[in-house]
Amino acid sequence: MKNDDEALLEAAKTVRAYAHAPYSHFYVGSAVLDEKGRIHSGCNVENAAYPEGICAETAAIAAMVAAGGTRIVAIAAVGGRQTLEACTPCGGCRQRIAEFADANTRVVLVDDKGRPKRYTMDQLLPASFRLK
Ligand code: THU
Repeated sequence: MKNDDEALLEAAKTVRAYAHAPYSHFYVGSAVLDEKGRIHSGCNVENAAYPEGICAETAAIAAMVAAGGTRIVAIAAVGGRQTLEACTPCGGCRQRIAEFADANTRVVLVDDKGRPKRYTMDQLLPASFRLK
């Protein structure tokens, strides 16, 4: 698990370099580990029409789905203007992650010092909305 999480963080840091964030200057990268052991990554893509921008987690999840992945085993996200800051997924992304996750799915982030900080999905979005 630890190796997986480190690989995920590395993938998130790598893709963050491609973030398109000319408005907020807050650059985010995310990487998803799917049920087949594959990593899918994505970055935030902002737009001059501000609400049309998408988060890095959303982009990574879309890449997973487009590649045939159906479950998120773990997801990493890193962000910041220059150096990495503690960056937790926004509310909308928590709901999007929950769609493909379970209560114990790992969400791997970093703290203000860049040290790995792990949460479970249930910690970030308890009692999440689901359709039966
Ligand atoms: N952002 C993400 O991509 N993921 C997060 O978890 C938090 C915020 C993006 C959205 C926007 O492009 C920028 O960061 C500032 O909010």
